[in-house]
Amino acid sequence: MKKNVLILGSGGREHAIALKVSQSELLGQLFVMPGNPGTMDIAFQLPGDLSDHEMVKSNILGFDIDIVICGPEVPLSEGLMDSILNTDWAYKPILVGPCREGARLESSKAFSKEFMKRHQIPTAAYQTFSKDQENEALEFISKMSVPVVIKASGLAAGKGVVICLDHASAKKELREMFQGKFGESSETIVIEEFLSGIEFSVFILTNGNQYVLLPEAKDYKRIGVGDQGPNTGGMGAVSPVPFLDESLLKKVKDQIIHTTLNGLKKDNIPYKGFIFFGLINVNGDPFVIEYNCRLGDPETEVILPRLKNDLIELIIQMEEERLDHVEIELDSRTAVTIMLVSKGYPDQYEKGKEILLPPDIPEDSCLFYAGTKLEDQLLKTNGGRVISVTSLAATMQSALSKSLKLADEIKYEGKYYRNDIGFDLGA
Ligand code: AMP
Ligand code: GLY
Repeated sequence: MKKNVLILGSGGREHAIALKVSQSELLGQLFVMPGNPGTMDIAFQLPGDLSDHEMVKSNILGFDIDIVICGPEVPLSEGLMDSILNTDWAYKPILVGPCREGARLESSKAFSKEFMKRHQIPTAAYQTFSKDQENEALEFISKMSVPVVIKASGLAAGKGVVICLDHASAKKELREMFQGKFGESSETIVIEEFLSGIEFSVFILTNGNQYVLLPEAKDYKRIGVGDQGPNTGGMGAVSPVPFLDESLLKKVKDQIIHTTLNGLKKDNIPYKGFIFFGLINVNGDPFVIEYNCRLGDPETEVILPRLKNDLIELIIQMEEERLDHVEIELDSRTAVTIMLVSKGYPDQYEKGKEILLPPDIPEDSCLFYAGTKLEDQLLKTNGGRVISVTSLAATMQSALSKSLKLADEIKYEGKYYRNDIGFDLGA
C-alpha cells in the first residue's frame, strides 16, 4: 500500500530527504512542513512552525500521513514525537525520530557523556559543572593539559564548543558561558580532554533493537579554507570516507554502535529513527565526539544520493522489526557536496539577494536548497547556508570539480564557499 509521507524541516537536509522519498515506488503523497523553494516541485508545502505541535498533528490527521520524518533536532528535543505518540488516534503514523528522552543524546551533552561513561563507550575524559560550581570548574581547568575543550551542554546550533589553547582562554570562555553566552544551553558545561585525530561520521537507522548502517561521511565545519576560522553548521561533506577501513568499521560497530543501542535498552529509552555518531579516529581507535538524534546537514546531501535502497521501504522495515535481513546497497561513486553561504556567515549576513541558477544541472549533480525563499517569483537568499551543490563521480577529485563548476555558475551577491572540501582525504 502506498504511504503518505510528511517531512518536517526546511533545510538542505530536508530537501535531500524529500528527493529520496519522492523516488520511492511506495510513495502516495509527499508533504513537507514548512519546506523551502527546492521542495516545492516534489512535495506539497504545509506552512507552519514546528514548535506548534497541534498544527503538526492536525496536518498528520488531515492529510492521512503514514510516515513522519523529522529532520532537525530542536523539535525532537522539544518532545514533538511525544506529543504525536500521546495523541489518541485510531491509527498511529510511523515516526522517524526519537522522543524527547532519546533526543537527549544530542540535546544534553551532560546526559550523553554520562550515558557513554555508564555504558563504557569510548569518549574523551570529562567532567560536568553547573553554573553554581564555577570555582570548581576553574580549578578543574587548571589541572588539565591544553588544549582544553569547553562545551555548552545544551543545543547551540553547532557553535557551543570551544577549543581553548591555554588555561587563561579556557577560564575566560567558561566564565562567558556561565554568564549566558548560549543562554540556558550554557548553564551546564562539559569540560573535556582534547582528542587529536581525524573526524568522520557514521549514521544508522534503528528501531532500538536492530539497525542498518547508512553510508558514512566526513563534514567540514570551519568557515575557512584549510579548516580555519569559526565553526559553522557545515560547509561541505564527502562520502565515502577512504580511511574508514574494515578494521576501523568493526571497532565502530562493536565498541560504539552496539554499546549505544544496548545502553539505550538498559536505560529503557525507546529509540526509533536516525543516530548520527560524530566520531574521531585516534590512532586507529574510534571515540565519540558527539551524538545527534537525526541526520546531518550537509552530510545527508552526500549519503542519501549514494543510498540505492528505497527509503520508505527501509522505514517500514524499521517499524516492523525487519532490519536484520536488509542489505544496504550503495552507489560506489564518491559524493561531494559544497555549501554555498551568505557573506558574513556564521556571523551577521544579509538576506534577500536574488539567486541566478545555471539553466542545466548535469545528471550526476543536484542542488539542495537551504536558506532560500521565493519572492515575486524570484529565488532569493534567506539564510546563512543557501544551497548545497552535490555531485557524484568515480573519484573524489572529479566529484569536487563538478560541484565547484556548478558552484561557480550559481550567482548571487555575497556568495562564498570553500573550494577545498575533502582536502585532507587524499585524491
Ligand atoms: P561537537 O558539537 O561536540 O560535535 O563539537 C564540535 C567540534 O568540536 C567537533 O566536530 C570537533 O571538531 C571539536 N571537538 C569537540 N570535542 C572535541 C574533543 N574532545 N577533542 C577534540 N576536538 C573536539
Ligand atoms: N553538519 C553537522 C550537523 O548536522 O550537525
